[in-house]
Amino acid sequence: MALMAISLQYLLHISTIILILGALTLVQDETQFTYNGFRGSINKLHVDGLATILPNGLLQMTNYSMRNTSHAFYPYPVIFKPKHLSFSTTFAFAMYPQVPNHSGHGIVFVISPSTNFKHALSSIYLGLVNVTNNGLSSNHIFAVELDTIQTREFGDIDDSHVGIDVNSLRSIDAASSSYYSDKEGVNKTLLLNSGKPMQIWIEYDEVQMLANVTLAPLGHPKPSKCLLSKHIDLSTILLDSMYVGFSSSTGKISNSHYILGWSWSQSGKAKDLDLSKLPSLPRIKHKKLSSNKLVFVLLLSVVLLLLLVIAGVFWFMWRKKYEELHESWEKEYAPHRLSYKDLFVATKGFKESGLLGVGGFGKVYKGVLPSTGATSCCETNRS
Ligand SMILES: *[C@@H]1O[C@H](CO)[C@@H](O)[C@H](O)[C@H]1NC(C)=O
Ligand SMILES: *[C@@H]1O[C@H](CO)[C@@H](O)[C@H](O)[C@H]1NC(C)=O
Ligand SMILES: *[C@@H]1O[C@H](CO)[C@@H](O)[C@H](O)[C@H]1NC(C)=O
Repeated sequence: MALMAISLQYLLHISTIILILGALTLVQDETQFTYNGFRGSINKLHVDGLATILPNGLLQMTNYSMRNTSHAFYPYPVIFKPKHLSFSTTFAFAMYPQVPNHSGHGIVFVISPSTNFKHALSSIYLGLVNVTNNGLSSNHIFAVELDTIQTREFGDIDDSHVGIDVNSLRSIDAASSSYYSDKEGVNKTLLLNSGKPMQIWIEYDEVQMLANVTLAPLGHPKPSKCLLSKHIDLSTILLDSMYVGFSSSTGKISNSHYILGWSWSQSGKAKDLDLSKLPSLPRIKHKKLSSNKLVFVLLLSVVLLLLLVIAGVFWFMWRKKYEELHESWEKEYAPHRLSYKDLFVATKGFKESGLLGVGGFGKVYKGVLPSTGATSCCETNRS
């Protein structure tokens, strides 16, 4: 009996240990999540600054407000160490410039020790760092920037590039935004601030110590060739537990920045985004159309005005051609008056062949005069 009790106790101990071990494994389990739009995610996302979730589930990182920042983070820390340095993530985004071809500034995917960025600056600092901590190894930041401004100070290659950043806005590797079209076998340019939705894949393999970044228009299958591929040892950069999310900024010129969906995985490939569930973007087409309309109406007005001026000038010239002098004495003879126009027609425009004769008054007109019985007033008047 006693033996049985002891073995039962022993069994209980064993099962408790197994349970605790199991729970520990669960705690250390790889984080995995997918947002197909962010509707109802207000408590499942840590946002600050300009970031807001629109009613349709679109995560608006910035509107056109100037010189401001925003952040949106998965609210719980993700565990990278000791065993989960590899990760795979993808998100869909869109950037609308306020003024065509003038951008400010971009979106950054960030892995950081904290979600507190209140000391970070806007504009070229992308809401990530400030003048004093940019480049410090104590930042422990891994980021991928989608930058729409060429900041020479940070060695930016152009005004539409993707860069891998470690602790600094001076990218360790960067490429002009483009994607590989498997169908056509060529690289195609993608302008980041075109207002068109795009998708990016960021993957890190801890065994190969390789970070891959791939870009494509949203809806396009993931290209077989990536945009950036960089050897990097994240074990010295990432801490045991980190936060993952986005940072964005505007400057003197601003973009509207949007994130449509986001998927993250620390156990294999991130789940594909369900494109049919992603929120729709604001329609800029409509705005463009109305501005086009405005231009059309303005052009039409200008053309009409020009036509009116031309018609006026012709009218004036026509009037001038048949202009007559009216003087007070003429009034008495008014009924007998020969109009200058009649004369003009009769003499075929006062051509030499139509001369009436040369007399003391100089040249007198001949031709078929309307029979008014009066001498030409103009002729006499002018001598
Ligand atoms: C940035 O935007 C937030 C939210 O609209 C606002 O409260 C804050 O004052 C802005 N900061 C600056 C520097 O404009
Ligand atoms: C904007 O930039 C694109 C690409 O560089 C160019 O094709 C387009 O003509 C530019 N538009 C304006 C209004 O400057
Ligand atoms: C820059 O950011 C760091 C880290 O948040 C902060 O300690 C420091 O005070 C900031 N520097 C300035 C000049 O704001």
